[in-house]
Amino acid sequence: MRHFDEIKMTSIETHFTNDPDRAKRMSLKWEDFFIDYSKNRLNSKTILLMCEFAKEAGLEKAINAYFEGEKINQTENRAVLHTALRNFSMDSLLIDNKNIIPEIHAVRKKMKLFSNKIISGEWKGFTGKSITHIVNVGIGGSDLGPLMVTEALEFYKNHLTTFFISNVDGDHVNEVLKKCPIETTLFLIVSKSFNTQETITNAKTIKKWFLSNSSEVSLSKHFIAISSNTQKIKEYGLTKENVFLMKNWTGGRFSLWSSAGLSICLSIGYENFEKLLKGAEAMDIHFKKTPFEKNMPLILSFIGVWYNNFYNAETEVIIPYTQYLRSFPNYLQQASMESNGKSVDRNGENVTYQTGTIIWGSTGTNAQHAFFQLIHQGTRLIPADFIGFKNSLYKEKEHQDQLIANFFAQTEALMKGKKKSEVIRELELANYSSKSIDRLLPFKIFKGNCPTNSILIKELTPYNLGALISLYESKIFTQGILWNIFSYDQWGVELGKELANKILITINSRSNNIQNKSTEQLINLYRF
Ligand code: F6P
Repeated sequence: MRHFDEIKMTSIETHFTNDPDRAKRMSLKWEDFFIDYSKNRLNSKTILLMCEFAKEAGLEKAINAYFEGEKINQTENRAVLHTALRNFSMDSLLIDNKNIIPEIHAVRKKMKLFSNKIISGEWKGFTGKSITHIVNVGIGGSDLGPLMVTEALEFYKNHLTTFFISNVDGDHVNEVLKKCPIETTLFLIVSKSFNTQETITNAKTIKKWFLSNSSEVSLSKHFIAISSNTQKIKEYGLTKENVFLMKNWTGGRFSLWSSAGLSICLSIGYENFEKLLKGAEAMDIHFKKTPFEKNMPLILSFIGVWYNNFYNAETEVIIPYTQYLRSFPNYLQQASMESNGKSVDRNGENVTYQTGTIIWGSTGTNAQHAFFQLIHQGTRLIPADFIGFKNSLYKEKEHQDQLIANFFAQTEALMKGKKKSEVIRELELANYSSKSIDRLLPFKIFKGNCPTNSILIKELTPYNLGALISLYESKIFTQGILWNIFSYDQWGVELGKELANKILITINSRSNNIQNKSTEQLINLYRF
């Protein structure tokens, strides 16, 4: 706190004046990644103190426990091992006295064989035609990760058309079905629990649609289940040949690396899917082995905590300067907010500080023309992560130069703002009268001093995307340790699910088991 008081009034620009080497010192390089975090309201001492804080919080031990499969999801008594799904060097990892690695390899092999069959056209639908359309049916982690990655790697995509159905909104499923040829569409029902209302309802509707023009025996040619609940899959009508198993140590929001990523594997091919995993593994190794002060996920997590807990910033905005990453902010929203949206610490006590940040964002340059005004001149402090790629995939130099110029310009503008003297000079040059200048002055001044991280990556490849996702996963993990909260459960979403079921009964049975007058009034309005 003393350090915060010392530097809180120092602007980012003043930090640059005080330390001419700052840009160099506050930049990190790793493989194709470059992170410049110098445009922040902090100095080297801040990072040093954050490193000490992380050591005191037992981060090193926590990282080992995480990777080694200790049951760090204590409230559900589970290990958190999405990192094992992308580990290509380990032969053995014991969970409940069972080595889980051979099983991981077996699932990967099954994904490879299956996706090769679908992509090559060897797998035939019920009328003997090859598959042309893939529909992923799932919600939350069973949708957001696969959707985001499939979009992000569109450049590497094959001939298969891919759709995602998530919402229980019947219009969503029908709009997609409208575009799916029944003879050549493969449905992937992705639900770790196979108990999620939205997914099961959509799966039943799709099955009914399918059976209205084919027979039960044809189901196995068009439906795949990805889940850990073998009993429910059986009830749905699928046998084990059509099942890809998920394990309970794969958290839903971190499941794209598992068989839940089958839609990714199908759309870009197994080799590219493996590159995605390998990129994530490489970033995991960086996270595990790099000293705190040079560690990319750690530095990003320190900066997040710094603004959240000292400057009371409430949100963090993510701006990828590529249209491919249009769903990345959404994906991170779940990964981060479902993980760290907790108000009870690891001892079950209410926390006395802010935890999880609100994550939002959109692509640059579109976002500049939408909500940047509020970041530049609004009343709130909104730290931003800018993510860009040095090379564009179609090598459109004119476009790429403009895109990157905007990225850099915005980080500069956010930091510098526009001073009174600059506005006056600008208006004088445009021949404004001194009266008009006085009147316009307050509106045209930008206070600046808005913090940004610049993440510049060589090219959007499957490998680099894997590393980027892993970078943020480890940031989320670290923040959970620093805030002393459990990041891998999500009890808060359960109440709404229970009440939705209760209200559904009320809607269908016309009896009333709802106490609240406002809710009752809404139900009646809907029913009659
Ligand atoms: O409602 C939250 C949640 O449990 C997420 O954590 C999960 O990703 C999503 O629901 C879907 O769960 P499932 O894969 O079991 O259908």
